[in-house]
Amino acid sequence: EKGGYDYFMLKEIAEQPKAVADTLLGRIDAAGSLTLDEVRISASELREVDKVVIVACGTAFHAGLIAKYAIEHWTRIPCEVELASEFRYRDPILDQQTLVIAISQSGETMDTLMALRHAREQGARVLAICNTNGSTIPRESDAVLYTHAGPEVAVASTKAFLTQLVACYLVALYLGQVRGTKWGDEIHAVIRDLAHIGGDVERVLETMEPVRELARSLVHKNTVLFLGRHVGYPVALEGALKLKELAYMHAEGFAAGELKHGPIALIEDDLPVVVVVPSPRGRSVLHDKIVSNMQEIRARGARTIVIAEEGDEAVVPYADHLIRIPATPTLLQPLVATVPLQVFACELATARGNEVDQPRNLAKSVTVE
Ligand code: F6R
Repeated sequence: EKGGYDYFMLKEIAEQPKAVADTLLGRIDAAGSLTLDEVRISASELREVDKVVIVACGTAFHAGLIAKYAIEHWTRIPCEVELASEFRYRDPILDQQTLVIAISQSGETMDTLMALRHAREQGARVLAICNTNGSTIPRESDAVLYTHAGPEVAVASTKAFLTQLVACYLVALYLGQVRGTKWGDEIHAVIRDLAHIGGDVERVLETMEPVRELARSLVHKNTVLFLGRHVGYPVALEGALKLKELAYMHAEGFAAGELKHGPIALIEDDLPVVVVVPSPRGRSVLHDKIVSNMQEIRARGARTIVIAEEGDEAVVPYADHLIRIPATPTLLQPLVATVPLQVFACELATARGNEVDQPRNLAKSVTVE
């Protein structure tokens, strides 16, 4: 049941710190290394992998887009991410050294299932990242890494998404670990950060009242844009998808660097634009670039809603609304940056009188192609 919440979605958003912790449980050993024996693909097989291809739909696809940054950075293995519905129709190049990762909460999504069947027919090895024990996708895969989000009832995916991210990071770090890349020290540090990230998600959840207030104030808007760079770009896509499906508003996510190639023409007076700001530490060039993007859109009238790390003062002059998230390593930031976007979409849907758990025209699992 809803456990005191008005909607399953609210309950599932609140359960995220636990879902994240549960997905890590038993997978990090006392020495701070990963143990993913359950995956049942041997270390020698993983060392032979020369390409990773991720297939998924919707929110799970966004998790895959983020996974690409992590996999390529930590393992130096080329990684492609493709919408499952497009994948098999373009005659993809696959062989025994290709690791295909199929991400699916339900484990029953027909597009994803057809993509993995196609991949296996070509000889590729398929690893499922799935939230539903014994469902079709893990049954038909060579191996499975379960997310431990618990049952997700609301149609819009929240806790499943965060746990898909965790599972993707685990796979990326594990591949790095067994293959021994030059990022060994960084991999250990990130594993330590991951182990505490549930607490950061909890802190974000405790500060969401201003986000809800802001959402209510935008109830009569028609359009909201979302901008991000690097892993913040898929976060922007996810924020836009949540808003479409829940609030039935026109919402689009863009890579901030693409603005000047077209989308900036959409900016008009008082248009809400959510900006996901990368950490000013680490890859600070990304941060500086997005600050100038904020300047550009604000000069054209946009109302900026800025999601930025605590202590990032450079964004303050360009933020009409500022949402703070804890400082997090760049690649892990989506785990904390997505949460305010979920709350934002849920509150806007409620304010517009929409059915939060059962948005119109949508089903929890899409078992037709
Ligand atoms: C969005 C959403 C959908 C699913 C997609 C894939 O909130 O829930 O976009 O992510 O239909 O579903 P699964 O993960 O069950 O394959």
